[in-house]
Amino acid sequence: MGANIRATGAPPHEALCGDSPTLGLGTLVSHSPDPSPARTRESVKGRVLVVGASGFLGRAVVRALAEDGFEVRGLARDAAKGERIRENGGIPFLGDILDTPSLASAIAGCTAAVHLAANPSREEDAMQVRVEGARWLVEAARSAGVSRLLIGSGYWVYRGQPKPIDEDAAVDPRGESRVNYETERVGLAAQTAGKLDVSVLRPGMVYGDGSWFRGMATAIRSGEYSVVGDGKNRWSFVALPDAGRAFATVLRSGLGGEVYNVVDGSPVMLREFVDFVAGKLGARAPPTIEVDAAAGVFGPEVAHHLAADRPTSNEKLCRLGWQPRFPSFREGLPPLLRTMYPHSSGRSD
Ligand SMILES: NC(=O)c1ccc[n+]([C@@H]2O[C@H](COP(=O)([O-])OP(=O)(O)OC[C@H]3O[C@@H](n4cnc5c(N)ncnc54)[C@H](OP(=O)(O)O)[C@@H]3O)[C@@H](O)[C@H]2O)c1
Repeated sequence: MGANIRATGAPPHEALCGDSPTLGLGTLVSHSPDPSPARTRESVKGRVLVVGASGFLGRAVVRALAEDGFEVRGLARDAAKGERIRENGGIPFLGDILDTPSLASAIAGCTAAVHLAANPSREEDAMQVRVEGARWLVEAARSAGVSRLLIGSGYWVYRGQPKPIDEDAAVDPRGESRVNYETERVGLAAQTAGKLDVSVLRPGMVYGDGSWFRGMATAIRSGEYSVVGDGKNRWSFVALPDAGRAFATVLRSGLGGEVYNVVDGSPVMLREFVDFVAGKLGARAPPTIEVDAAAGVFGPEVAHHLAADRPTSNEKLCRLGWQPRFPSFREGLPPLLRTMYPHSSGRSD
């Protein structure tokens, strides 16, 4: 099954749970110096709580917000995860999105919050952490007088279509994307102009050293990856640091009640992307597996998503002033792959 999981590009979950043996939930993980000592109180743009801050996307968001001048708190489920938050310029607070007191104490004094908590230790808890967690975060935000909430979702909520997908395109949430879609709905239902402005961000396939891309690259390298369908369907990508910066942009300039796609604006056929990765890694071009056969291996929802055509537009986000530093995978993947595989036999250009 391991090979199958990797072949889907499904993220490996490092799900550790529970309280710290030495600290109570809701406490600052440790009293270390300000991660950005050069910043004066006047220059801080606001204090933001990121929930899911130790995760793949969450860490990039913490980094981008900190670089943008926000004071960033990150909810960490244990002290070790807190270190990941600190490394990215955030201040870790011990807590859990489903533990009200810890959430209340972490959010106190914040002007904004970001929901990226996902992928709990047990898959059956996904709904609880994402959807119920969103409700609890909305409540905590209201009680603390927080005026801005960002909900991280994903572009898999869209129905596939050949023409460019903007934020008004039809949705067809299934599997994991249904959980994300319901999370969005909880956030948008809480939208209260001027009091709690809620925006939803739908990142495309975020590539970085982790999550689905590490799984895909590993499987391509070992010859275990298969392209589902004919590979002519288009995926929409975004480099991890650009995705993080998108959250900072929407926090600063986005509107409440609105949804923003987070993609680099260069959708590409899956076959082209996969063959590019294979070429860089010195691996053979992966074979193809029929969608029906893939459904038997990965389940129908995942197979459907992998074969869907989703050429997605970033125009709305760009109108807020965001521009991807990596306009396509052609610029973004080579430096990433060199970091991930410094001794790769593949081409280094
Ligand atoms: N990865 C992508 O390419 C991508 C693309 C588009 C959309 N998305 C969406 O973005 C969201 C985040 O994805 P990701 O890839 O960053 O996931 P991830 O790496 O698994 O991170 C999930 C985060 O949620 C935390 N978490 C889990 N249960 C929690 C709880 N009960 N209380 C507080 N925090 C909890 C985890 O903490 P621990 O570190 O302690 O486990 C971790 O920090 C998901 O909804 C996903 O669908 C991801």
